[in-house]
Amino acid sequence: MSAHPASAPPTASPADSLLVRAARRDPGPRPPVWFMRQAGRSLPEYRALREGVGMLESCRRPDLVTEITLQPVRRHGVDAAIFFSDIVVPLAAVGVDLDIVAGVGPVVAQPFATRADLDRLPPLTPERVPDITESVRLLVAELGATPLIGFAGAPFTLASYLVEGGPSRTHAKTKALMHGDPQLWHALCARLAAISGAFLRIQAQAGVSAVQLFDSWAGALSHRDYEEFVLPHSRVALAAVADQGIPTIHFGVGTSELLVAMGSAGADVVGVDFRVALDEATARLGRGYAVQGNLDPALLFAPWPVVEQHVRRIVAQGRQAPGHIFNLGHGVPPETDPDVLTRIVELVKSLGE
Ligand code: CP3
Repeated sequence: MSAHPASAPPTASPADSLLVRAARRDPGPRPPVWFMRQAGRSLPEYRALREGVGMLESCRRPDLVTEITLQPVRRHGVDAAIFFSDIVVPLAAVGVDLDIVAGVGPVVAQPFATRADLDRLPPLTPERVPDITESVRLLVAELGATPLIGFAGAPFTLASYLVEGGPSRTHAKTKALMHGDPQLWHALCARLAAISGAFLRIQAQAGVSAVQLFDSWAGALSHRDYEEFVLPHSRVALAAVADQGIPTIHFGVGTSELLVAMGSAGADVVGVDFRVALDEATARLGRGYAVQGNLDPALLFAPWPVVEQHVRRIVAQGRQAPGHIFNLGHGVPPETDPDVLTRIVELVKSLGE
């Protein structure tokens, strides 16, 4: 008997996955589903593995990166893996002295303030992150037909951590630099766009099936400031993978007024938080973009019938878009009961039957 009967289906590949197809506006029977921050503290198996290992160190160890990336795929059956890393990993890799403090976030030893600080942001070359290439390759081999999403932080969100020295609610120093010394601001963002783009490109060349650019804090900006001070740099970061043949997702929080501008940065998919319904987001964006989102993470703590009702609503609204990737409106909170995530995956999958 032939080992390859003629009736066998072609080998499934991530390029034919629901995620990649939805991103390319080829809606399948149901939206693919994954969760931002699915790899992390909501999982007891993650906390066990991370015991006694610093966050930055764990991002640079292929044994830990691969295992942590795979954990939510095994547990929840999500349609995509997201590479376990952090937006500040490439900054640390080029030599910026920073740490990721549990419960706080990235903390930078010497915040960015003057032109001389530009010298602390040299280009990111693949030789600085051989472990990232290795981890992506190991994961792609392990994941088979399940796509792996690579990512990077967008220039504005990275600049905010560098200028503020840590997380900020107001982004006051960042905005003061942007408006007070536009030349230095643009020079800083040009460095960051190069680093961010290189980080995306390294992951793409190692085999990820899609990338997401996180501009988490872009919603702090007016439309006008976004277009003048941020958009050109995010465009450069995304352009670094334009020739790689993989779709790109562009995400921020509180970006209702910025959706069209964020799409125009060169994304195939625009991430939408819970503040705008997906049908309304599609009305704003037009037919040229798929959307990703947008269950309010706070609803993960509501009784299941409430969660179910909102998941069904979001899937129905997502059908108005040319392509929809189901996700939360922001990351999984650490206190989330992981079983709720598993149930959401099961529900979304059942909606295509
Ligand atoms: O599962 C995944 O989404 C993949 C891994 C991932 C992490 N960070 C791991 C992480 C991704 C995609 C990120 C991106 C990231 N990092 C963003 C953009 C996404 C967003 O949430 O808006 C931002 C703004 C950061 C910066 C950062 N790093 C923050 C705000 C925090 C949380 C601080 C805290 O402890 O509350 C981190 C740390 C971090 N990054 C953790 C994880 C799993 C927690 C580390 C730990 O286990 O202690």
